Amino acid sequence: MNHKKILVTGGAGFIGSHLCERLLNEGNEVLCLDNYFTGSKDNIVHLLDNPYFELIRHDVVHPFHVDVDEIYNLACPASPVHYQYNAIKTIKTSVMGAINMLGLAKRLKAKVLQASTSEVYGDPHVHPQPESYWGNVNPIGIRSCYDEGKRCAETLFMDYYRQNGVRIKIVRIFNTYGPRMNPEDGRVVSNFIVQALKGEDITIYGDGTQTRSFQYVDDMVEAMVRMMATDDSFTGPVNTGNPGEFTMLELANLVLDLTGSKSKLIFMPLPSDDPRQRRPDITLAKEKLNWEPKIQLRDGLVKTIEYFDKILK
Ligand SMILES: NC(=O)c1ccc[n+]([C@@H]2O[C@H](COP(=O)([O-])OP(=O)(O)OC[C@H]3O[C@@H](n4cnc5c(N)ncnc54)[C@H](O)[C@@H]3O)[C@@H](O)[C@H]2O)c1
Repeated sequence: MNHKKILVTGGAGFIGSHLCERLLNEGNEVLCLDNYFTGSKDNIVHLLDNPYFELIRHDVVHPFHVDVDEIYNLACPASPVHYQYNAIKTIKTSVMGAINMLGLAKRLKAKVLQASTSEVYGDPHVHPQPESYWGNVNPIGIRSCYDEGKRCAETLFMDYYRQNGVRIKIVRIFNTYGPRMNPEDGRVVSNFIVQALKGEDITIYGDGTQTRSFQYVDDMVEAMVRMMATDDSFTGPVNTGNPGEFTMLELANLVLDLTGSKSKLIFMPLPSDDPRQRRPDITLAKEKLNWEPKIQLRDGLVKTIEYFDKILK
C-alpha cells in the first residue's frame, strides 16, 4: 500500500473530519491541525485510538513545520455567522494560512490542495458556473472577508505554482452537507433539520424561490482525494458540487417530509449579498477526475437527520 504522511488543516471541522477518516481508512498517516474555532474534538474523537492519527492544536496564521507528503488546506470558518464573527481573522486565516501552507509545501516539495469555494463566483451572472467564469464579487461587503480571502488564496496558490513550481491543487467546493455540520452555524440544511427536529418554525429567507445545489460530504471527499491524485500538470481550479438544483421551499418541504415534523414555514428578509442562484458546472471534474456526485439529496438528508437526531437528544 502507498502509505503517505498527510497534513489536514481544519481537520477537526465538518469536512475535515470526514477527510481524515477517509485518508486513515486508506492506510495513510494523518496529522490533523486545528485551532477549534468552529471545529471540535467531538468530530474526531473516534479517530484518537488510531496510532496513525495525530492531533495538533495550532492556528494556521502562524508558520508550522512538519514533514509530510501532502497537505489539504481546509482551515477557515465556512459559514457566514462564523466568518463574520471576526472578519479580519477570517481574511488572515485564508491569506496567511495559504502562505504558510504553500511555504511548507515548497520546502518539502509536497503537494498542497486548497479548499476553495463557490463563493469566489459571488452573485454570478453565468449559470451554471464553469471554472473559467471570473465571478461577480463585492469587494467591500459583509461576505467579502470570506469571498475575497478565498480568492486571494487562489491567487497565491497560482503564483506559488508559476513562480516556484509548487505542486498545487485548487478545488472549488459548492454547498456541502452531512453529519457533523455545526448545528449553530446557520447553514440552510442544518438550520432546517434542527428547526424541524425541535418542532420550531422553519426560517426561509426571501420568498424561498432562490436555489442552491447540495453536495453530500462523502461525494465531496471523494472529489478531493481524486484531485490530489492527479498529476502535477493539473492544478485546477476544479468545481465539485452537485448540479441538482433545489429551491429553499423544496428543501424545507423535503426536510419536513423526512422528519415527519409539524413545523411551519416562516419568511424573513434576505441578508445582503445573498446570491439568488448557484449551481456548479462539473464538466471539468467529470473529465479530469472521472467523478460525479452519487448521493441523492433525499438519501444524504436521511443520514444527516439521523446524526442531528442523535446529537440533539
Ligand atoms: N461546507 C461547505 O459547504 C463548504 C463550501 C465551500 C468551501 N468550504 C471550505 O471547506 C473548508 C472546510 O469547511 P467546513 O464546512 O468543514 O467548515 P468547518 O468550520 O466545520 O471547518 C473549518 C475548520 O477549520 C478550523 N479553523 C478555522 N480557522 C482556523 C485557523 N486560523 N487555524 C486552524 N484551524 C482553523 C476550524 O476550527 C474548523 O475545524 C473551509 O475552508 C471552507 O471554506 C466548505
